[in-house]
Amino acid sequence: MTGWKPVFRAHAPARRLLYSGSLGSVSAQMPKEFFITTAIYYTNSSPHVGHAYEMVLADVIARYHRLKGEKVFFLTGVDQHGQKVQQSAAKAGVPPAEFVKGISQKFVDLGKKLDVQYDDWAETISDRHKKVVRGILQRLFEEGKIYKDKQAGYYSVRQEQFLTDKERRPDGQFGPEWGEIEFREEENYYFKLSQHKDWLLRYLENRADAVVPDFRQTELRNAVEKISGDLCISRPKSRLDWGIELPFDKDFVTYVWFDALTNYISFAGYDAAHSTLNSQPATFRDKWPALQIIGKDILVPAHGIYWLIILHAIGFPDDQMPQLLVHGWWNLGGAKMSKSAGNIVDPFVLVDRYGADALRYYLISDIATGQDADFSKERFIERYNADLANSLGNLLNRTLSMISQYRGRKLARPKSVESRPLDEYGLHVSPTLGLTEYVNAMTDSAPHLASQVALNLTVQCNQIVDAARPWVLAKDSAEREHLDKVLYTLAESLRIIAILVSPVLPRAAHGIFDQLNWKMELSGKEERFRLDDAKWGGLPDGHVVGKPVPLFPRIEG
Ligand code: MSP
Repeated sequence: MTGWKPVFRAHAPARRLLYSGSLGSVSAQMPKEFFITTAIYYTNSSPHVGHAYEMVLADVIARYHRLKGEKVFFLTGVDQHGQKVQQSAAKAGVPPAEFVKGISQKFVDLGKKLDVQYDDWAETISDRHKKVVRGILQRLFEEGKIYKDKQAGYYSVRQEQFLTDKERRPDGQFGPEWGEIEFREEENYYFKLSQHKDWLLRYLENRADAVVPDFRQTELRNAVEKISGDLCISRPKSRLDWGIELPFDKDFVTYVWFDALTNYISFAGYDAAHSTLNSQPATFRDKWPALQIIGKDILVPAHGIYWLIILHAIGFPDDQMPQLLVHGWWNLGGAKMSKSAGNIVDPFVLVDRYGADALRYYLISDIATGQDADFSKERFIERYNADLANSLGNLLNRTLSMISQYRGRKLARPKSVESRPLDEYGLHVSPTLGLTEYVNAMTDSAPHLASQVALNLTVQCNQIVDAARPWVLAKDSAEREHLDKVLYTLAESLRIIAILVSPVLPRAAHGIFDQLNWKMELSGKEERFRLDDAKWGGLPDGHVVGKPVPLFPRIEG
């Protein structure tokens, strides 16, 4: 494949696929379940395209692992406590509990709308979560890892943390990333963070892919070197009461990060009563460690420092640390989308107008994982029309129309096409079909490159049609087998393309299978697609295809 460039390798070595020629074969050391998480979304305002991207990215990776036959546990959800939520609720004039219900529902709706198939939904106001957060805090308190102290200083309302001089820019000011700053004096509880600094540096030294892409790991390491103070983990109820009450002091709630980060284990079955991983319930051990998808804004300090240190402090060994896959932002006009800046793109409007697959495709194919991209409606329509309408949709339509017109919908599989597709038309996909590149791209969490493999196949098939000119072959009885070969090649390629695009375009993949009249007994079900079936020659001789129905109508204007 031209332009193929491996970007980085995601997923912990322990869960790496050993690709050994037979697709989908997995190594014996794999955990029983592939556990993947997104960040949990603040319920202070409605979702935008940036949130949609993160959910879809995780969904594509999760679907790919299911495609390989793995058991997957995909966790996403909402972050419901904290000052921002309390403030937004007050502004709306409703109690926080009611306010978060409304916004949480919008995130649930977004997942549904985008065909995001998660296995569990994290809501931090739920009892099972609170129990784990309290249990962990109590344990750390009893072990002397949490203490009470008084602090006076500048506080970032947006980041919900006190700021020190280290956060100041060279001009002495705090940067805009901290939002509104106010002076506060408070008694609070602190988690002994800085004593784990050396451990974290060592851990990052020993595990090169703790964070991917690797430039993010470098960024994290630089930040870890600057750790000096401990982490304030509480807020007095007099200031913030929308949170989880500390188990050892009813006048305080826990500060947002200790609450939010814990979701990754509380919803996976972690039991705070057990301090070693070996004594955790099997349901938890079968899943952990997770691949965690987060945006670049919450690597430092939240996930890269607080989360890893919290896990270390509560007894997780180094080889059981999660891997952090850090994606970039979808910007609008060069700036990060945010409701307060008033530059958001509403994913609901796009899906209502163009369909879930169209938005999924754009969000996945037009950004390189780890990098930023600028959202553009023109570009969205351009990619849709070029790749989906003109290339994939057109290939399906013309292939089925020709099989119907020239062969009464029945495929013949000449011997010469059984093992290899049409070499004479330069179908380079033979005999590997680009599958190695596809698997590598997915393993690298680079679904934009994997989509490109499927698209390349599609483009080549359309070129075959143009070069072979089946409408001419159909007029010449001496070309009968040649035409059979062309038609079989196209239909069989479409079957394989459907499998390859299924993580990104689940609806279209079902549409292609339906129209090919393939595996109809599994229609609509996920088991319909298996990476192992992406091998040449699956359609049998005499297979009868269905009728063509437009899959991706062109977007005009
Ligand atoms: N609630 C915290 C995360 C707690 S995780 C234990 C939070 N929430 S958020 O709603 O602000 O962001 C959630 C995720 O969405 C983050 O990973 C963030 O990077 C991602 N995105 C928010 N805006 C985005 C874009 N414009 N583009 C891509 N991702 C973006 O932070």
